[in-house]
Amino acid sequence: MAQETSRDVGPIVLLGPPGAGKGTQAKRIMEKYLVPQVSTGDLLRYNVAQGTELGRAAQAVMARGELVSDDLVCEMVRQRLKQPDCHRGYILDGFPRTAAQAGWLDALLDDRLFDNSRPTRAWPIVIRLEVDYNELLCRITGRRSCPTCGRIYNIHFQPPAVDELCDVDGTKLETRNDDRLEVIQPRLAAYQEQTAPVADYYQRTGRLICVNGDQAVDEVTRQIFRIIEDHHS
Ligand code: AP5
Repeated sequence: MAQETSRDVGPIVLLGPPGAGKGTQAKRIMEKYLVPQVSTGDLLRYNVAQGTELGRAAQAVMARGELVSDDLVCEMVRQRLKQPDCHRGYILDGFPRTAAQAGWLDALLDDRLFDNSRPTRAWPIVIRLEVDYNELLCRITGRRSCPTCGRIYNIHFQPPAVDELCDVDGTKLETRNDDRLEVIQPRLAAYQEQTAPVADYYQRTGRLICVNGDQAVDEVTRQIFRIIEDHHS
């Protein structure tokens, strides 16, 4: 994949329900444009694994499939976006997830909340991946990921070459704690109740671009790259 390092990409927001392919596509955007993936789910899981104060506050909430409080998540994102690797742009995967988070992000980008080490200020490219409900269930229950390199697999659609082992580094693949059937339902409900209005918010402000996420991974990637190129042309 040809890499693009010569210009600012700005913020890219990936919206979509659990299992829509946000993480899968974020990694591909990251590889092509060399801007970091800022996944609030990954950051929270890291904090849980490290046993930080944030992780201890988030652990039980995540295990129930509910959303962590806006205050905690926004502060975590603010700290992450201050890092120098975000200056050319970044991919927000799983954020914003509530109307309050979307308003907070706009304020941040409008420079009202930020201090002197601010990231790039352009308005975000907001892309929503749309996927059929039954397909989401199949994707989530089939997901496996590599704890070493983060690569995402699916036992139905994108299996590793050797059962349960990462193609890149041979690590044993893991199933996420919240990918159990009893937690998937509350996660999808939280999306409908709290995150769908975020898409409405971007729609009203004319910034929402929808992509059919039910297509093959490569085709979804092709359409996302086209959107990014069009945005900058
Ligand atoms: P988070 O980690 O963000 O999870 P999520 O939104 O539920 O999204 P997923 O990671 O499940 O799905 P994805 O869209 O990334 O799909 P993927 O690419 O893996 O959040 C987890 C929890 O953290 C939340 O429940 C909440 O508690 C907390 N949290 C996080 N952010 C928060 C916030 N902002 N505010 C409050 N709380 C927050 O793909 C899924 C599977 O499908 C994979 O197996 C993949 O291989 C496969 N696949 C992908 N694309 C395709 C395709 N086109 N065709 C076939 N298979 C495909």
